Amino acid sequence: MANKRGPGICPPSCSILFMFLQLLSCSIPGNGKADFSVFAPDKPLLAVVGEEVDLPCHLSLNISAEDMELRWYRDQPSPAMHLHKNGIDVQDEQMAEYQGRTTFLSTRLAQGQAAVRIHNVTALDNGTFHCNFKDGIMSAETTLWLRVAGLGSEPKIQVGPGQSEGVWAQCTSEGWYPEPQVEWRDLGGQSLPSVTNLSASPTTGLFSVVSNVTLLDRDVEGLSCSIISSLLQRRKVAKSYLPAQLSRSLPSMTWRTVLPLILTVAGLAIAGATCLFQKCWTEDVIIYVSPSLDPDTASPKLALSEDGKSVRRLFFDQELPDIPSRFDQDPCVLAREQFSAGKYYWVVQVGHRKAWNLGVCLDSLDPKGRIPKAPTNGLWALELYKETFWALTFPRVRLYPSEPLHQVGILLDCEAGRVSFYNVGSGSLIYTFSGLSFSVPLRPFFCLWTHDPNPLTICTECQDLEALGSPQSQGQKVGSLLHQDP
Ligand SMILES: *[C@@H]1O[C@H](CO)[C@@H](O)[C@H](O)[C@H]1NC(C)=O
Ligand SMILES: *[C@@H]1O[C@H](CO)[C@@H](O)[C@H](O)[C@H]1NC(C)=O
Ligand SMILES: *[C@@H]1O[C@H](CO)[C@@H](O)[C@H](O)[C@H]1NC(C)=O
Ligand SMILES: *[C@@H]1O[C@H](CO)[C@@H](O)[C@H](O)[C@H]1NC(C)=O
Ligand SMILES: *[C@@H]1O[C@H](CO)[C@@H](O)[C@H](O)[C@H]1NC(C)=O
Repeated sequence: MANKRGPGICPPSCSILFMFLQLLSCSIPGNGKADFSVFAPDKPLLAVVGEEVDLPCHLSLNISAEDMELRWYRDQPSPAMHLHKNGIDVQDEQMAEYQGRTTFLSTRLAQGQAAVRIHNVTALDNGTFHCNFKDGIMSAETTLWLRVAGLGSEPKIQVGPGQSEGVWAQCTSEGWYPEPQVEWRDLGGQSLPSVTNLSASPTTGLFSVVSNVTLLDRDVEGLSCSIISSLLQRRKVAKSYLPAQLSRSLPSMTWRTVLPLILTVAGLAIAGATCLFQKCWTEDVIIYVSPSLDPDTASPKLALSEDGKSVRRLFFDQELPDIPSRFDQDPCVLAREQFSAGKYYWVVQVGHRKAWNLGVCLDSLDPKGRIPKAPTNGLWALELYKETFWALTFPRVRLYPSEPLHQVGILLDCEAGRVSFYNVGSGSLIYTFSGLSFSVPLRPFFCLWTHDPNPLTICTECQDLEALGSPQSQGQKVGSLLHQDP
């Protein structure tokens, strides 16, 4: 039987009295001489990476733990995750990974309750803990379970021409814990087979996701990639729009919807001219995309629509965390899509907005401070400002579009290192940057100058394009423009 404060020397005559007192003392709460147990929540506690979590433990009796030695530990009692002894936290006996990361919560210590708060939870905190309460030679302990969950970054979809046929798409995201599930679907909701690689970071233990799908000759208009944390019951989704695909058999080639006819004709002309059958098919596909704006890059001066397809300028800055990917001075935003191979075309409705930049930039562009808008800084764009159009070359070149510009078509040809801007209304070429050189992917780039309330909108359907005048004559026009300077 545990004697915490021994009687010292006691003559036999008094030992009976002493035992009586001992028995009596057990029933008197608050004197710290009781035989106790320790309890903790019996279900695992849920903690989120980067946040904090409390690990509470309490005595079975309503007695003070103020004079006890309280130890929270993982596999071995020492070094501890947190040790509280003689009323103070003992740092010498603390595991390195918990130093500066724990706080002892003592508000209910007099009632035998205590907790340790872990700050900035990491994946490595997942698992079991023990807490041990010790009073003299008497001690008791119990076990707690912590389940850590990490919600990763917004997924990004990159699309490219497939090996021999079809389209290849890759979805990437980081910072998940434990392993997330990955789900690809086409826009009709059909799930698509994919190949996924999950890898854990050796330093943080968090999982990165790389998942591929290959679409063969199928009429897929778009696809979505969802990454799912079943523990948090949350998912993050990225969507990408694709064209109805070019069939490999040229005579039956049909474009179902979205690609403007002007480019269909151009694509046909190139395919017909340079390829007979399947072989060089992929080189000649222009993939119609509808990029989605990336909220993690958006300047606080901008507001994005829910679907990420439209952006407008605010009168007052929003309160947003100044994360490394965000533009902090210029009113700009990037799309989530990254392009490193293939040919892509997207259309931006500029409408009557009076000032903007549109183009592409390197994924590595530094978004902080005033951005030098020039190819030397990895940025290829057009500008409208004070009723004047510019190609942002270095030095910049003034442009004189002959017709009003309400929709701008942007054609990026990664292999040729070229980005061209079209007036969708008239089907005419406005400007081409060539000789783009890049070793990191390119992303669509947008800025909204002046407090003009008109938004910039990325077209998703753009069916109205097909109604623009005679496709044949436009096809000729743009077709020949696409051929120039190969
Ligand atoms: C524990 O004991 C204290 C006095 O010793 C009392 O004020 C408190 O209400 C008790 N708490 C519980 C949960 O019984
Ligand atoms: C939280 O932990 C991560 C990785 O362990 C570290 O990079 C980050 O700086 C920490 N944050 C704070 C606020 O301490
Ligand atoms: C996390 O810890 C829980 C218990 O707390 C355990 O069941 C689970 O397997 C752990 N997860 C991983 C990925 O180690
Ligand atoms: C999966 O990822 C790991 C780590 O990034 C890499 O070493 C491995 O080659 C990848 N496997 C595949 C099939 O991509
Ligand atoms: C995805 O495709 C890329 C390019 O073809 C390849 O390098 C990578 O290993 C693939 N990853 C998986 C998980 O299949």
